[in-house]
Amino acid sequence: MKKIELHLHLEGAAPPGFIRGLANEKGADLSGVFDPQGHYAYDGFDGFLRCYEAATSVLQTPRDYARLLAEVLERSAEQGVIYTELFVSPEFCGGADLSAWRDYLAAMTEIADKARADGIDSRAILTAIRHFGPDHARKTAICAAETAGGWVAGFGMGGAESVGRATDYAWSFDCAKEAGLGLTCHAGEWGGPDSIRDALALGCTRIGHGVRAIEDAALIRVLADTAVTLEVCPASNVALGVFPSWPAHPIARLADAGVRVTVSTDDPPFFHTTMRHEYDRLADAFGWGDTEFAQINRWAAEAAFCDPATRDRLLKEFP
Ligand code: ADE
Ligand code: ZN
Repeated sequence: MKKIELHLHLEGAAPPGFIRGLANEKGADLSGVFDPQGHYAYDGFDGFLRCYEAATSVLQTPRDYARLLAEVLERSAEQGVIYTELFVSPEFCGGADLSAWRDYLAAMTEIADKARADGIDSRAILTAIRHFGPDHARKTAICAAETAGGWVAGFGMGGAESVGRATDYAWSFDCAKEAGLGLTCHAGEWGGPDSIRDALALGCTRIGHGVRAIEDAALIRVLADTAVTLEVCPASNVALGVFPSWPAHPIARLADAGVRVTVSTDDPPFFHTTMRHEYDRLADAFGWGDTEFAQINRWAAEAAFCDPATRDRLLKEFP
């Protein structure tokens, strides 16, 4: 089955072997990042963020990012993904300095162009990191606004949802919106319904996760009535303990309430998931089949931050 993925962190998609290889090349010490089996090792969400940032520390040059993107797009294509949106953090690409970012972007655009010719299309969502604070986010927003168009199609924010309010970052979201970028923000993963309302106040048409909307019937109605799309990452939520199990996950209840849900992997090697794994578990837990999977992919196509011609081409894949 063909698939669209809207929520994939490029750094978080780095296979452990890829990161170990780079660490060896650079003589970097990544003790504590891997368990004895060679998987990423972390405890809880804060531990996850620390492990993620330590692993990312060996991505140091445009060539490192280009090699990572090539590997990630190849793996996504193997999963049947035909279009993917990748969160990329300019903070990790030369400290969100515009001139450095342009070099990283040029290297990645070359890889994305090659992959498109090979059958997997992609776009980048430049992503601020909430726990780095609003001043850092502004630098990321400037990188996004100055390089908007082409591969750079969106602006978003991930990181620790417990830090401040999303509305503290309004300048950055406004800047990205004025540049014509699509907006999404991680919310309603760790924070409750009010955190999602803050993301909506920023002008986001998509919410990263958003699953805690299930706690608020009025908010569910707003999401359904305004066709806001949730980038749901069920295996991530179960692995990090947002929900205790697949059957307890609210994705099917949200869809039944008329909320546009889509399915993504977030940071696949950290959560031992793939797009096929997500679809298989959704089939097991909720009896989803071809009808439901076609629907979530149509919603994904409609919410994608791509040009209209690409959207029409994607929609034709899911009649
Ligand atoms: N960055 C990478 N994965 C994330 C997640 N699940 N939540 C917030 N920030 C992230
Ligand atoms: Zn995420």
